[in-house]
Amino acid sequence: MAAGSELVSLLLLLSIANLCNGGITSRYTRKLEASVDMPAEAFPPPGGYNAPEQVHITQGDRDGRGVIISWVTPLSPKPNVVRYWAADCDEKHADESQARITTYKYYNYTSGFIHHATIKNLKYGTKYFYELGSDNVTRRFFFTTPPMVGPDVPYTFGIIGDLGQTYDSNQTFEHYYSNLKGQTVLFVGDLSYADNHPFHDNRKWDTWGRFVEKSTAYQPWIWTAGNHEMDFAPEIGEKTPFKPFTRRYHVPYRSAQSTCPLWYSIKRASAYIIVLSSYSAYGTYTPQYEWLLKEFTKVNREETPWLIVMVHSPWYNSYEYHYMEGESMRVMFESWFVQNKVDLVLSGHVHAYERSERVSNVRYNITNRLSTPIRDINAPIYLTVGDGGNIEGLANRYTEPQPSYSAYREASFGHAMLEIKNRTHAYYTWHRNQDAEPVAADSLWIYNRHWYPEDESSQ
Ligand SMILES: *[C@@H]1O[C@H](CO)[C@@H](O)[C@H](O)[C@H]1NC(C)=O
Ligand SMILES: *[C@@H]1O[C@H](CO)[C@@H](O)[C@H](O)[C@H]1NC(C)=O
Ligand SMILES: *[C@@H]1O[C@H](CO)[C@@H](O)[C@H](O)[C@H]1NC(C)=O
Ligand SMILES: *[C@@H]1O[C@H](CO)[C@@H](O)[C@H](O)[C@H]1NC(C)=O
Ligand SMILES: *[C@@H]1O[C@H](CO)[C@@H](O)[C@H](O)[C@H]1NC(C)=O
Ligand SMILES: [Fe+2]
Repeated sequence: MAAGSELVSLLLLLSIANLCNGGITSRYTRKLEASVDMPAEAFPPPGGYNAPEQVHITQGDRDGRGVIISWVTPLSPKPNVVRYWAADCDEKHADESQARITTYKYYNYTSGFIHHATIKNLKYGTKYFYELGSDNVTRRFFFTTPPMVGPDVPYTFGIIGDLGQTYDSNQTFEHYYSNLKGQTVLFVGDLSYADNHPFHDNRKWDTWGRFVEKSTAYQPWIWTAGNHEMDFAPEIGEKTPFKPFTRRYHVPYRSAQSTCPLWYSIKRASAYIIVLSSYSAYGTYTPQYEWLLKEFTKVNREETPWLIVMVHSPWYNSYEYHYMEGESMRVMFESWFVQNKVDLVLSGHVHAYERSERVSNVRYNITNRLSTPIRDINAPIYLTVGDGGNIEGLANRYTEPQPSYSAYREASFGHAMLEIKNRTHAYYTWHRNQDAEPVAADSLWIYNRHWYPEDESSQ
């Protein structure tokens, strides 16, 4: 009996010690196996002469009434139109939109014809069909526009990062795909991992486009550039960073008054989403800095209560991997995030999962020794969802002890969901691949920083 109660108090002591240090380090240990790419044969091009492939859509304007439809044709640039019609209308009244065509060369690879068609002024909250191709082969898809932007519009985002195209990537992707709640994916960077192959084998960009098509053709994926999008390889004559990515994935940066597709913003339902580039200049006076400075003045929380930032490299990360890589950007922008009460910052890059407390480190300067992050009710929650399952494998070494800023961390592959309910509440869940989709390994009611700035961790 005595030994038993000693054990109980020891356990109690241990769990208290755990609280003092930081949050939860999950005891779930995933079986470690090498992540291997799926073979190209798993994603053959669709049948038929010059069939449109790698179909993907993203938001095409400021408010969600626009869509950019992108696809690749392998042999001929024609036909170059998309036909589309509202699902409740007769197909005979279909509209047509011309695409812009681009191609690129990378080392000894030549791309197919890459088409981007921007459709604007659609009706809100409406299902549309669209059709690509010609007499030889047509392919039909559909999407649903978001409801009109407004403060209490419920909307559900999936969050996926660092996906790649391994068997693990397939599990993550299929797991998300089976969750029927997801309406739009917030993708936090690192798409195909083509650059991990000899000469950045750009055929991997094509297989990746085919791999994700069954989702990307039907719901928008909001793109963030990661380091694997740079494809910077001067040793083989490739000196233009982001060439394949920016040719293949278009974003509505002009409607956000951005001068570069690597940083932009959109409004969708009740969310204002700002996308930043970890791998573009962001120091004082740079284009990205000047843009972001103005950006915060455009956010109206009465219209879009939820302010979400996406950036590939995390600012608060307690894995050994990429430790403090996001630090210089944090130093530049964190005070703006706190002043403007950003709700959530979504990142990837570290191949694992982590959720932070609401913390800030804005007091710190080079001489005052205040270098420890502190609880801050105005600070965002930082989420690292770099756990898509790419060829580089899992980040499974933690810094110890768990720092106080870290609320939950686990070295498993998975994806997250953010269900915005209204202007005050959003339900957030993280799903590890080994569980059935309804199971959430980590979950939290998130309270809006503008409308209901309560501390979630104490409720
Ligand atoms: C490109 O170069 C690599 C390495 O020299 C070679 O293995 C590959 O077959 C080439 N591909 C084409 C399309 O020429
Ligand atoms: C594709 O369609 C065009 C126009 O209808 C036709 O001229 C051509 O022969 C077709 N090509 C193939 C391979 O079926
Ligand atoms: C990907 O996952 C799906 C669903 O589990 C499965 O049907 C498919 O065969 C997988 N693809 C590969 C290449 O393993
Ligand atoms: C550094 O931080 C301390 C404490 O917040 C502050 O008093 C001091 O003015 C700061 N130094 C500079 C140069 O801003
Ligand atoms: C917002 O949603 C939460 C969670 O569903 C609910 O408890 C709350 O009552 C809602 N607020 C309003 C004003 O409807
Ligand atoms: Fe990365």
